[in-house]
Amino acid sequence: MKNPFYMKDIITITDFGRAELEYLFRVADNIIEDPLRFSDILKGKILGYAFFEPSTRTKLSFESAMKRLGGQTVGFSEPSKTSIKKGESFKDTLKMLEVYSDVIVVRHPADGAAKYAAEVCNKPIINGGDGKFQHPTQTMLDLYTIYRELGHIDGLVIGILGDLKYARTVNSLLLGLTNFKPKKLYLISPPLLRPREFILDFLSSSNISFELIERLGDVISELDVLYVVRIQKERFPDIMEYNKVKGAYRVSMRTLMDAKDSLKILHPLPKLDEIAPEIDNTKYALYYKQAQYGVFVRMALLLSILLEEVQ
Ligand code: CP
Repeated sequence: MKNPFYMKDIITITDFGRAELEYLFRVADNIIEDPLRFSDILKGKILGYAFFEPSTRTKLSFESAMKRLGGQTVGFSEPSKTSIKKGESFKDTLKMLEVYSDVIVVRHPADGAAKYAAEVCNKPIINGGDGKFQHPTQTMLDLYTIYRELGHIDGLVIGILGDLKYARTVNSLLLGLTNFKPKKLYLISPPLLRPREFILDFLSSSNISFELIERLGDVISELDVLYVVRIQKERFPDIMEYNKVKGAYRVSMRTLMDAKDSLKILHPLPKLDEIAPEIDNTKYALYYKQAQYGVFVRMALLLSILLEEVQ
């Protein structure tokens, strides 16, 4: 297959189908198999990053990925230390990164910021998370983690637990899963945190079998994968609404009493109190390895965006 990512913007996961995602998985597999083969391949290329919101994984894993490919990085994660502080616009800031780099990762609190960045920039833009809208590269690594660890995504029973309304990782994951054929999706949340209608409509029109439920315990014994997200306090328009759902769910060893031995728990991280620390070192926890796969998937993506011939 011809490289489908060459010089492409990565704004929403719906821009990519199963064939494109599987292409990326193959590149990531090749990198894991022989990382030294790729260690110099982006020499002379520069990744720019503009982070208007805090990040540990997305920023550092993109930096690590670029450096492991022999490239370099420039950018900022504290806008207050740039000329934005003097009133410079988002557009002009991005136009400068366009001059200084070959591909740019943008994280921003506003839905649609990455799309706007792609409209004003002539270099490929990667959405590193925009508001409560999307986080497409998180979904690429989430799907890769499932594929790599369980061997397939089709046929699995997947539970998604938590703030399904405001978590952009969940939006992107649900949309991305429509490229595959999971046996069933259980969307588990308090009623206030159910996914938004456009996501449910998309699942229905993609013939995905799903059910909205409130209690993890009702389905835990069926699950192959449990994907957990924290409550996104920073996205709530009203703190009173947040207070109604604060602490509404927590996964502990007790919760997992009836789980399959092979159950795997994913989390995009950061995690707060929704997963008990006692789970971290068990066979169920896949979230730290998931973050590690994030580096390989982002290496695969950077390579594929910047080089026409990859594999
Ligand atoms: N998963 C994720 O986006 O983490 P960060 O917010 O730390 O980048």
